[in-house]
Amino acid sequence: MLQAFYKIQSKEQIGKATYSFVIDCPPLAHESRCGCFVHVQCGEKPLRRPISISEIDAENGTITLVFEVRGEGTQWLSERGVGDEINILGPLGNGFFPEPDKPAIFIGGGIGCPPMLGAAQTYGKNAEAILGFRSKEHMILLEKFQACCKCVDVTTNDGSFGTKGFVTDVLRDKLQSEPDAVVYACGPMPMLKGVAELCAKRQVKCYVSLEQRMGCGIGACLVCACKTHEKDGEHMRHVCKNGPVFDAREVDFHG
Ligand SMILES: Cc1cc2nc3c(=O)[nH]c(=O)nc-3n(C[C@H](O)[C@H](O)[C@H](O)COP(=O)(O)OP(=O)(O)OC[C@H]3O[C@@H](n4cnc5c(N)ncnc54)[C@H](O)[C@@H]3O)c2cc1C
Ligand code: FES
Repeated sequence: MLQAFYKIQSKEQIGKATYSFVIDCPPLAHESRCGCFVHVQCGEKPLRRPISISEIDAENGTITLVFEVRGEGTQWLSERGVGDEINILGPLGNGFFPEPDKPAIFIGGGIGCPPMLGAAQTYGKNAEAILGFRSKEHMILLEKFQACCKCVDVTTNDGSFGTKGFVTDVLRDKLQSEPDAVVYACGPMPMLKGVAELCAKRQVKCYVSLEQRMGCGIGACLVCACKTHEKDGEHMRHVCKNGPVFDAREVDFHG
């Protein structure tokens, strides 16, 4: 785990209130794995803000962070520019352990799409993606997913782009044509619960990346606890340290 100031190499606004930063951070890029996250110091805020690593370019020593402005911390971050340095702690969390020779379906809901991108890139043409958004104007990263996946489906709640409905509506059919695929998902809890239930019914392996409020980000404060049911019984796990990626069969979506 590293902590240092790293320079913003490029900045792009990719949505209404969504930004993509490429960070020049060779040591961090070498240690990072898709599905991990970093903890970013946002101005004078005492608590850092967790942001997933979206893409990793180990050769050029960069990682890409994609974030939506939600409150004061992410607002502060969105006001940083190219050349500014931000204090980053990471990489944190377990991340994905890809098996790129197998088919995989990546499911992103809204701002849950960024961590799915780097993972999909490692699978290349074995990857399919289902991306869900509230409406067309909230859509992000479509071209990036299209560039690496063999097939990308989009759903919008209001039908303004792609299929009207939820990612689970598309997943239901897809699991029939790809029964051996591994499913990876990140997004709002109700979406993850729906994806996990569908996969359990079809006995398809599914990993979910959970988003939980965080304090320390390193397993020391218990703010991010989540309940799991594992082979040896019930546990309270830390999303920051034991996750954010969990086997969906073990997550207690009601706990
Ligand atoms: C593992 C992980 C990965 C994430 N990856 C991304 C990402 O790639 N892009 C992105 O846009 N957002 C991501 N988030 C959510 C992001 O951390 C919150 O939107 C951000 O912390 C909000 O901070 P704020 O100061 O702008 O908002 P405020 O609401 O002012 O934040 C107040 C406090 O609540 C915490 N908090 C608020 N919302 C969340 C949340 N949803 N999850 C965790 N803590 C929260 C903040 O850390 C802070 O301590 C991720 C969260 C987690 C846990
Ligand atoms: S955020 Fe402190 S233990 Fe997870």
